[in-house]
Amino acid sequence: MTGKNGCVVIVGSQWGDEGKGKIVDVLAEEVEIVARYQGGANAGHTVHVGSEEFILHQIPSGILHPDRRCLLGNGVVMDPFQFFQEMDKLTARGIDAAARVGVSGRAHLLLSYHKLLDRAAEQRRGAGKIGTTGRGIGPAYEDKVARQGIRVADLRDAARAEERLRAAAVRVNERLSLLDTDERVDADALVAEVMGIRERLLGIMVDTGRVIHDAIRAGERVLLEGAQGALLDVDHGTYPYVTSSNTTAGGAALGVGVGPTAIAEVYGVVKAYTTRVGEGPLPTEFDSPMQEQIRELGGEYGATTGRPRRCGWFDAVVVRYAARVNGLTGLAVTKLDVLDTLPELQIAVRYQAGGESLEDFPGDLGLLAEAQPEYETMQGWESSTADARRWEDLPAAAQAYLRRIEELTEVPIRYVSVGTRRDQIIHVGR
Ligand code: IMP
Ligand code: MG
Repeated sequence: MTGKNGCVVIVGSQWGDEGKGKIVDVLAEEVEIVARYQGGANAGHTVHVGSEEFILHQIPSGILHPDRRCLLGNGVVMDPFQFFQEMDKLTARGIDAAARVGVSGRAHLLLSYHKLLDRAAEQRRGAGKIGTTGRGIGPAYEDKVARQGIRVADLRDAARAEERLRAAAVRVNERLSLLDTDERVDADALVAEVMGIRERLLGIMVDTGRVIHDAIRAGERVLLEGAQGALLDVDHGTYPYVTSSNTTAGGAALGVGVGPTAIAEVYGVVKAYTTRVGEGPLPTEFDSPMQEQIRELGGEYGATTGRPRRCGWFDAVVVRYAARVNGLTGLAVTKLDVLDTLPELQIAVRYQAGGESLEDFPGDLGLLAEAQPEYETMQGWESSTADARRWEDLPAAAQAYLRRIEELTEVPIRYVSVGTRRDQIIHVGR
């Protein structure tokens, strides 16, 4: 990692599931604080430590390192029940999380009614569905922007919190009555549920901006952990097939409460190929049987929903675009080993669409729908990379593949991951 003072941001630079959890886990070694800045329990960060697998949705992946402080910034929509459930599970597995976590008082609460609304809205969309994770993310951010959300700090005054919860129940029930569902919010149950965790939640409330600001001043290092990916960003992604937050690096400063000048480095995590879960465009998507082959080799099933992920070739148009909108200073390429058996690989370098050759990822979904990738063929290495620990250990064809990715994206590769375990990582140039 860099010697520069300030925050290091880890952002997904495709459609999520790039392996950020593993990279955060590796980099957590070198920092004091890990903070999430957006999203909620829609994330699914899988980390393997020893023979154990941990899947974290709401708590930052840094928690698996002893002594790291793990924070949820104001930009996160926090499901407190999911949060405490994960915390208790970690505690049961011998990881002392309770004393190390904090949540911004400005973070919005994601409650059971947001999940009801999420599912009802998806059903309503029918064939035009987004394929959300059903975790209530869209409705929680809707409430935030509509200025009717409930924030962690709002729980301090119990009477006022109850009033807000009852008002929310009325509002949500009005909405639900217009949708095709019989489900309703029981206001008493909602109040009882939230009051049941109120003190526990207030006990971990912090001002994340202040904590991070002070840490940087004291020369400590802070990792800002993104969830989802650049192409799922509500502004820069394949709208409307996106999540409801700013997943890109600009969202990091905003989502924890520091200025953009507090960011020293931005590392983009990309798979050595491409995946997407849910609906929406994926220009390099494989046909059968390659689709099934890579899905099985890569274990490409959603960590949050279990849905099969859609797979495709590495798309340099996508990653070049992600490099630009995130201001990437380095790349971490993951799951290289999944490609070990392929005799030949393709990389998309441009798209043909609208009678033109496009270098830039289009913002127009119509153009994207007709986009035909122009591929470059690369030679496969047909040998195992799983035991490579230094750049020199990689087969020449794998090195060539990675170098071509660097050239096409104009971002240096800093890390290459060659397996699920913590030790299966190459620090390039170290
Ligand atoms: P939502 O975030 O649940 O509203 O889902 C919106 C879109 O983002 C859907 O296509 C989801 O599959 C996708 N999505 C949300 N979270 C993740 C994630 O952590 N990894 C990959 N895709 C995600
Ligand atoms: Mg995931």
